[in-house]
Amino acid sequence: HTCAQVDYIRHNIRTVADWPSQGVQFRDITPLLSNPRVFRVLIDEFVHRYFDERPDLIAGLDARGFIIGSVLAYELNIGFVPIRKKGKLPYATVEESYELEYGSATVEVHTDAVKPGHRVVLIDDLIATGGTMMAGKRLVERLGGVIIEGAAIVDLPELGGSNKLRAAGLPLYTLVDFS
Ligand code: PRP
Ligand code: ADE
Repeated sequence: HTCAQVDYIRHNIRTVADWPSQGVQFRDITPLLSNPRVFRVLIDEFVHRYFDERPDLIAGLDARGFIIGSVLAYELNIGFVPIRKKGKLPYATVEESYELEYGSATVEVHTDAVKPGHRVVLIDDLIATGGTMMAGKRLVERLGGVIIEGAAIVDLPELGGSNKLRAAGLPLYTLVDFS
């Protein structure tokens, strides 16, 4: 990608101070979605990244990973798997718990959603402490999936998540850093 495209994406992310709690600088990606020109530039960044790689599946993390992950999977003509917050999936699941920047959570995935050997790209809007992406990695791997890499629009490197994920053997592709 060119700097112009990444700068265009960066400048369309809105920062909301002290939300959802005091001291958090919330990086709001909704302006990337509501502007169709930015939305296309954003999705095309990921389409170009994975077009030649031909993954078998995109696994999207609840909830903002669903928005970009499903569009990406559609463009690549491959399947999409939702990794959901606990209690939302109707069929048999496996689950993983993790800590967030502000709280804790459990995510789960349907046991038949990923087949052994499937090559999977994990996608979310943002990496903070890395807990969500790490839980997604563990879920996909417990089902026998092979993760190509984790992808996100935003990395918050000062929270240490991306370093932790790379140290745990998960390659990452992110477009915009905020410190
Ligand atoms: C946000 C974000 C990522 C996660 C990143 O989701 O969309 O999924 O936090 O944080 P981490 O790297 O520290 O795990 P959030 O938990 O706020 O849920 P939501 O998508 O349902 O709003
Ligand atoms: N999830 C965790 N931390 C976040 C932040 N600072 N902005 C947006 N989403 C987040």
